[in-house]
Amino acid sequence: MSRRRQIYEGKAKILYEGPEPGTLIQYFKDDATAFNAQKRGTISGKGVINNRISEHVFTALASIGVPTHFIRRLNMREQLIRQVEIIPIEVVVRNVAAGSLSKRLGIEEGTQLPRTIIEYYYKDDALGDPMIADEHIACFGWATQDEMNDIADMAIRVNDFLSGMFAAIGIRLIDFKLEFGRVWDGDYSRVILADEISPDGCRLWDMKTNQKLDKDRFRQDLGGVEEAYQEVARRLGLLQPDDEFAVLDLDTHRKKRGK
Ligand code: TMP
Repeated sequence: MSRRRQIYEGKAKILYEGPEPGTLIQYFKDDATAFNAQKRGTISGKGVINNRISEHVFTALASIGVPTHFIRRLNMREQLIRQVEIIPIEVVVRNVAAGSLSKRLGIEEGTQLPRTIIEYYYKDDALGDPMIADEHIACFGWATQDEMNDIADMAIRVNDFLSGMFAAIGIRLIDFKLEFGRVWDGDYSRVILADEISPDGCRLWDMKTNQKLDKDRFRQDLGGVEEAYQEVARRLGLLQPDDEFAVLDLDTHRKKRGK
């Protein structure tokens, strides 16, 4: 690995200085955490798959006019991205009740919601990412009202697009999390989609069997975690049926050679 400056290390990714000003390299790890890092583990090959899935999804979103930080994939685990000022808000979009919504409000998991819900959480590990309302965002100046309007519009567009994209491959998009960042052009800033979109931050259920194809398999110790991530990549056409072990093996070999 070349010596380059590490900018930030998160739970699933590392950010390095990019080759040009205003760019970063986003490295996808196999590390997985849940419940605010109280549960930790490794999902073998996850970084490779999430890098590919996120590339695929961000490229598709760009093609319908949703601005994103993605520039291009560099290798198995890295992509070049635009540097943004991360807005400290996790935007969760829900189509079907699951996870914390089911727990908090006692709504049975799998209940189709009569309308899509957007929720906001303050991105702060020490506080456990508490849920917040628009009022808190305005009061503490985490984003302007114009930025929040853009964010909500983009979240709905992403939801509509991804719901269709996954439905076409027999997957129901239950819910997902987005993050946004600010980019500056002189005195003006605009908001673009940042972070990643992968089975780490989405709930994806097989349409026929309701089988979970996402990080809930890790959170809930359901087994078959690696296979679930591979299945999503395979259905998206990113892994050939016999390719998955080749792809993962290649990555393991590279690591062993210290590249
Ligand atoms: P939740 O039901 O636990 O609130 O999660 C909603 C969605 O957001 C789910 O698809 C998983 C994703 N998510 C993250 O990506 N990161 C997080 O820290 C949390 C809590 C959820």
